[in-house]
Amino acid sequence: MKFTFYGHACFAIETDGKKLLFDPFISGNELAKDIDINKIEADYILVSHGHGDHVADLVSIAKRTGAQVIAAYEIVDWVQKQGVTNVHPMNFGPANFDFGKVHFLPAWHSSSMPDGAYGGNPGGFLVHGKEHKFYYSGDTCLMMDMQLIPRYAKLDFAILPVGGNFTMDADDAVIAADFIKCDKVIGVHFDTFGYIKIDHQAAKEKFKAQGKELILPNIGETIIL
Ligand code: NI
Ligand code: MN
Repeated sequence: MKFTFYGHACFAIETDGKKLLFDPFISGNELAKDIDINKIEADYILVSHGHGDHVADLVSIAKRTGAQVIAAYEIVDWVQKQGVTNVHPMNFGPANFDFGKVHFLPAWHSSSMPDGAYGGNPGGFLVHGKEHKFYYSGDTCLMMDMQLIPRYAKLDFAILPVGGNFTMDADDAVIAADFIKCDKVIGVHFDTFGYIKIDHQAAKEKFKAQGKELILPNIGETIIL
């Protein structure tokens, strides 16, 4: 399984021969200026919620690649109005795809689209692929609901926000990793803005002290998991 980081909370995961792109926000991210948006391929685009730092490049990438947009019903409605036709609306619950089963699960956050339209409820994704199982929480604070995840799947890894202020910080993400019973965490949603700049070494040490690993990927980096 391949994980590629495009900055902030945008990443791609290749599993079972399919490319899953999450939360496309690249063009507005100064730190990701070396990423060529036109070279990003996707079979599916999964969107956690409607904020601009998660959907800025959603419509353009969906139209160019023809990838299927998997998101809350209200976000799907928003992209359809902009001419995206390959969509799969969800609300919280499971659905089956050719790459595996997806649980769209709640996140404690908010969700309005960049133009002010209602974005439905914010969420995260538990993906049960044939090869691997992983959880991306989306933007959220620490929440008790995460304790349900181990009942659904033994995770190979998780993608959690660690920047604080708008989401969990590294301390909270260590507890989240405990809740979801996962020792390998890829941190996202850090450093992009002043409010979420973090000390990388200190964040990694917090995980290490609990016998866990925090990976803070470089933008453009591909990690084989
Ligand atoms: Ni957000
Ligand atoms: Mn965000």
